[in-house]
Amino acid sequence: MCNGTHALIFATNNQNKATEINAILGTAFKISTLREIGLEIDIPEPHATLEENAREKSTTIYKLTQSDCFGEDTGLEVEALQGAPGVRSARYAGEHCNTEDNIKKLLQELATEQNRKARFRTVISLIENGNEYQFEGVCEGMIAWTSHGEQGFGYDPIFIPLGSTKSFASMTLDEKNKFSHRKKAVEKLVAHLHQKSRT
Ligand code: IMP
Repeated sequence: MCNGTHALIFATNNQNKATEINAILGTAFKISTLREIGLEIDIPEPHATLEENAREKSTTIYKLTQSDCFGEDTGLEVEALQGAPGVRSARYAGEHCNTEDNIKKLLQELATEQNRKARFRTVISLIENGNEYQFEGVCEGMIAWTSHGEQGFGYDPIFIPLGSTKSFASMTLDEKNKFSHRKKAVEKLVAHLHQKSRT
């Protein structure tokens, strides 16, 4: 900590995630992505759960930097697909596929499926003074029949959060953050950091 500001490394190369989290954190927190601290590293996601992959990211960076840091892993869990793509969301259509391929595959899998229920789940793993803490955020919603919108990233064009008729990709960042899984997990992280700084 310095000058009342928490400095944290965010173990990601995903600028979209960093932008979302910065919009939530405000000025009491300063996060730096791996690129911003000059670390060229692509941390693998080899595990079967979001919890383990989030921990893989945070512990890898903690070992390299010895600084407080956090990693996060997110999955889209579709009820009719028994929770798939889940932890494999980034690689759903194959190891070297892109977002469009993933969306196309998911829409194909659900082509005749009336149960469109799905949820995003984010797990954050914080390493603070060498100890690990985890925070979860869930956003319930449904998978649209087709893609809508140009904002956001990943599966945003086909995910409609409960309480809205618009896809995440049709929302501004502020609108997405009213519903977002990541926002809920980050709020728990922030509450933890505030509590720690008072004790
Ligand atoms: P990861 O957490 O980077 O492994 O992301 C898993 C997959 O879910 C990737 O394909 C991401 O693009 C996607 N993803 C993660 N967070 C979001 C989100 O907030 N909206 C839409 N897609 C997301």
